Amino acid sequence: MATTHPKSSAFILELNGLAVTAASGEALMKDIATLLHQKLTKYNWVGFYMLEHEPGGDILVLGPFKGTMTPHIRIPLNQGICGAAASSGMTIIINDVASDPRYLACSLETKSEIVVPIFVHGKVVGELDIDSHFLAAFGPGDRILCEHAAALLGKFLQSHS
Ligand code: SME
Repeated sequence: MATTHPKSSAFILELNGLAVTAASGEALMKDIATLLHQKLTKYNWVGFYMLEHEPGGDILVLGPFKGTMTPHIRIPLNQGICGAAASSGMTIIINDVASDPRYLACSLETKSEIVVPIFVHGKVVGELDIDSHFLAAFGPGDRILCEHAAALLGKFLQSHS
């Protein structure tokens, strides 16, 4: 019998389906953020930051998101968990944001966070950032799911550029 758990293969297939119908990268980001935010109750803020090249250096700029407005619209690469994930090209999971001095607060309710880089032609172009109101909300299954969502967007951007 097919399972309907949000982290099941059925959910992965639903995510994959979004990339088939999306009209643009922006639309796909909106769809992914909406699906993850709606279906995973511990994913309280789901959004994308995309890398922009500026004369002063690269900067992460807030893209489509679901959840409350964040004060962090633009994040330099040497700041925050977001900057660390983009500059290292590695997924970062913080089980307790209060224990990490790099953390930039988006909401006082946030307790844990995952940030997954998005690659196009092997280079970081942005990232998927998810905050939870629960401590240690992001386990191995969440890492797989979020890395899948980020890779899906990267593949879409690569094939539509
Ligand atoms: N917490 C992030 C900033 C982005 S907000 O969470 C949406 C960070 O430390 O980089």
